[in-house]
Formats: sequence, structure tokens, C-alpha cells
Amino acid sequence: MAHWTLADIPWDRFDPAKVEPAILCLAKAASLVEQNGADYTRYLCNVFADDAEFQQAARVWGEEEIRHGEALGRWATLADPTFDHRAACARFSAEFRVDLAAARSIRGSRAGELVARCIVETGTSSHYTALAEATREPVLRAICHRIAADELRHYKLFYTHMKRYLASERLPLWNRLRIALGRIRESGDDELSYAYFVANAAAGAAYDRRSAHRDYLAAAARVYCPHHVERAVAMTFKAVGLKPHGRLNLLASDLAWRALRRRAAV
Ligand SMILES: [Fe+2]
Ligand SMILES: [Fe+2]
Repeated sequence: MAHWTLADIPWDRFDPAKVEPAILCLAKAASLVEQNGADYTRYLCNVFADDAEFQQAARVWGEEEIRHGEALGRWATLADPTFDHRAACARFSAEFRVDLAAARSIRGSRAGELVARCIVETGTSSHYTALAEATREPVLRAICHRIAADELRHYKLFYTHMKRYLASERLPLWNRLRIALGRIRESGDDELSYAYFVANAAAGAAYDRRSAHRDYLAAAARVYCPHHVERAVAMTFKAVGLKPHGRLNLLASDLAWRALRRRAAV
């Protein structure tokens, strides 16, 4: 059963005076990325072809990701009636496609795939927590609180299955760390940057990944606080098998926070 639906969102509390332009840009971009849930579900069902338990969990997960996109898209359309969510999704999907033909994980193993999924959920969980805390708009805050709770549950789901696979697949800490860092680096690839561009660029503008990614980071850096980064580092550490809290976390969090500010040039 769904944990929540669009009918649970208090849409009548929408306050246009409290919509912040930078946060609206982030919500629009996220509404597109979340809609890729269906493709990622197919990819995961291919990779875990003989694991019916995981496939069932992945299908529910994919439905929840799509619901995130629908809720954010509806809110973005309320905040900006010129935003055509369906058209933007179509444009985004036409250019950015998940590899649906893959029968094996692009991470080299199933445990590796689940490490990467934990990293993605770490990113989304911290992103929506930061958005919920940053926005003054009550409907977006209600949506982001629900999504952030889902993303944390998704992290726990993938972490649980990762532990199950680690019992039979050898994946040393160093390899888990390499996969995690690789997935973090991929946040600079096209998915987020192109979604941000499609959602926010003027009609006819040409796509440039570097500038789109910089614009995305600059907007995201405005909503992130050091405690969001510290929590994301703790979740990453846990996924790779390191102690989540302690001096290494504080050091890594400090470095990550500085890197975020530097790359966003704010
Ligand atoms: Fe999501
Ligand atoms: Fe998620």
C-alpha cells in the first residue's frame, strides 16, 4: 500500500507569495529526474532477473519515485503556470535514457549496484530534507517532508539487500568506496544538469553541461547546510562499511562542504 498519495498533500494551503525562485528551479528539475523511476525499475529488474523478492521491492520503489515527480510537477505548475510538466518530462526523456538493455549491473556486481543505489538515495534524502527546511512555502514543505521520508526508506531498502548480497559476493571496502565515489562523481553527468536545463532554460537556449551543472550546484548550495552534508557523509560511510560517525566523518564532511561551496562558486 502506498505510504501517501497526491490526495494527502494539502494543496489548498499553497501560498504563491512564499515561492522562492531558486527553490522553484530545483523543484522543477527534480520533478523530471524522478520520472525516470519507471526506466530504473526495468533496469533493476533486468539486473536482478532471478530475484523475485528484490524485483517486487524495486517495482514499489519505482512507483514511489514516479509519485515524487508527479507531486513536484504539480506543485511547480501551481507555482509557475507556464511550466508544462508533461512536455518537459517528454523532452528530458527523449535525451536522457537509462540503459534498458543492460542485463548486468554497470557497477560490476549486484552488491556494487546496491552500493550505488544507496548513494543515490543518500543524495535524494539529503536534497529533499534541505529543500523542506529551506522553503517557506507550506505545500512544497509538506511534499518534501514526505519525499525525504521515502528516500530514507529507499536507502534502508537497498542497504538491507546490499547486506544480503554481501553475504555471498566478495566486495571489499576499497571497491565499495570506489563505487560510491564514482556514483557521487556521476552527479556531474547529464542527468541532473540536463534536467535543470530543460526545466529552467529559456526556449531556444543551447545546452551546455558545464554551465547547467554550475547553475544547478549554485541553486542547490543555497539550500544545503553543513548538517545536511554531515548526514549524507554518514550515510555514505555506512553504505561502504565505514563507521558512520567519528573524526573521519567530520573531516570528510568539512571537505565535502568546502567542495560544494567552491564548485557552486557562492
Ligand atoms: Fe525520489
Ligand atoms: Fe528514492
